[in-house]
Formats: sequence, C-alpha cells, structure tokens
Amino acid sequence: MAHDWHPSVMRSTSLISKSGPLADTLSGTLSSTISSTLAGSIEVIVGSMFSGKTEELLRLLKRAQFARQATQVFKPRIDSRYSVDHIASHNKNLMAAHVIEKAADIYQHLRADTRVVGIDEGQFFDQELVDVCSDLADRGLRVIVAGLDTNWRGKPFHPMPELMAVAEHVHKLHAVCVVCGAAASRTQRLRPSTQEILVGDDSSYEARCRECFDNSLGLVAELDLAMDEGITGTDAGTHLLVAHDCHKNIHTVHAHEL
Ligand code: ADP
Ligand code: TMP
Ligand code: MG
Ligand code: ZN
Repeated sequence: MAHDWHPSVMRSTSLISKSGPLADTLSGTLSSTISSTLAGSIEVIVGSMFSGKTEELLRLLKRAQFARQATQVFKPRIDSRYSVDHIASHNKNLMAAHVIEKAADIYQHLRADTRVVGIDEGQFFDQELVDVCSDLADRGLRVIVAGLDTNWRGKPFHPMPELMAVAEHVHKLHAVCVVCGAAASRTQRLRPSTQEILVGDDSSYEARCRECFDNSLGLVAELDLAMDEGITGTDAGTHLLVAHDCHKNIHTVHAHEL
C-alpha cells in the first residue's frame, strides 16, 4: 500500500527526519547509527542514447533486490517505446515500473518500506525532478536516475544537468559511434524535427562521437519548417523539402508536387 510521503506531510510528522524533536532527543551511538542507516543519496546515470543507461539502472536495481532492499521503479508516461509499463533497454530487458506524469507523482506510489527508487528517462521530467529526488535522498532513500545529459542538438537536456550537480555520484557512459567506432558522447537525430522531445529508437537516432556528430541538422530542420510553412500558406503547386544526408553531410533541396 502506498504511503503518504508528500513532503509537507513528511516534514511535519517524519520519524526519519534528520533534524527536529526526535533527532534532538537522540544522542551518542544510537543517533549516529540511525543517521548512517538512513543516509540517502542521488546517483545519476547519463550518456548518449545506446550508451547502456537503462541496462546499468536495471543492474543496480537487481543488485539492490539481491540485497533484499525494497525497490520501486518509475518512468514517464511519454516513454512508451518498447513497453507501456516497464522500463526497457534497447536489448528489451524489462522491469515493471510505475508510470507517472510528473516527478511529484512518485509520492502517491511510494511505499513505506522502499529503500531504493529507480527512475528512467529522467530528461522527460520537468525541473521538479531535482527537488523530488533531493527530498527523497534527504529522507534516507537511495535514488538512481538514468537519462540523457544532452539532446539531439548536443545541448544540455534539462533537468539532467541540474540533477548531476546535486548528485553524490554521476556515471557517464558511452555508446559506440556508428560512423567511426570511437566512444560516442552524442546522439544524432536522423529525421528533421525542431521539437526537443521526440520518442524514438534506432530508426530515429544514432550514437555518434564529437567528431562525427552533425549539429547542422538543427538548422536544416528549422529551414525546412520555415519553408514548409511559407509555401503551404500559398497556392503553390510545389512543396520544397530540405533533405539532409547525415552520413555524407550533404543538404539538398527537393521540389515535390503537392
Ligand atoms: P540507453 O538507455 O543508454 O539508450 P540501453 O541500456 O537501453 O541504452 O541499451 C544499451 C544496448 O544498446 C547495448 O548493450 C547494445 O546492445 C545496444 N546498442 C545498440 N547500438 C549501440 C551502439 N551504437 N553502441 C553501444 N551499444 C549499442
Ligand atoms: P534512451 O536514452 O533510453 O535510448 O532513450 C532516449 C529517449 O529520448 C528516446 O525515446 C529518444 C528521446 N530523445 C528525445 O526526445 N530528444 C532528443 O533530443 C534525444 C537525443 C532523444
Ligand atoms: Mg534507456
Ligand atoms: Zn565517430
């Protein structure tokens, strides 16, 4: 059964608060034993797509389960890529998860005995994720979050950078660059889209190293959109499409009959 873990409730009634009347009455060995038992933390697993973030999250959660620590796993509803209600690696390794809309929804599901909280696809949550993870860690939970540190433009994918800043541990993983075989730190989007969020797999994205990553696709996508909007607003009989060959770094403009 879910426990009422909302921060406002916990702050007034918590038995595991690190300060307050209960903590004040504890002294000596008992106090230090309790505070070390309840030491929470945030661990962040980042890297490009295909770098093994979800596999690492699954590995850490399974180890915690072997240690008989109660675990709970959360994922954002938008991530329905391989399963609606499991976190899933590209190798289709699965673990059942609570599906939530926003980070604070974790409190509705959190059980009183949970020691380890895992969260996948952290980049899909808003900034509140940072406060929620910090609050859970302050209350003695081990919080492990996997997510993209950079988006398809190679820019920080919020809120992961902020979470990395407050985390105790940051694991940065690398995929293999599909072009040259070097360690990949970037994610190449293969289809023009100006949206930051575009759920997809290897049909939409590739792992690339800094050298092979092509950031110009963003400009091409914007140009394509602008041309698209301009032309469809007229009675023009043709539709211009900017095509981008990611492997050859060639941009071409095609005229299509509407
Ligand atoms: P992430 O969550 O970081 O996207 P996953 O943990 O879901 O990654 O999947 C990692 C797996 O993806 C690897 O073990 C490997 O089997 C597969 N994979 C596919 N493409 C690549 C690549 N370019 N580099 C490394 N692993 C890849
Ligand atoms: P993965 O890191 O577990 O492979 O999943 C990353 C998800 O994020 C995947 O559904 C694609 C999506 N994504 C975006 O929405 N925007 C981006 O800029 C990038 C790089 C990925
Ligand atoms: Mg993943
Ligand atoms: Zn490369």
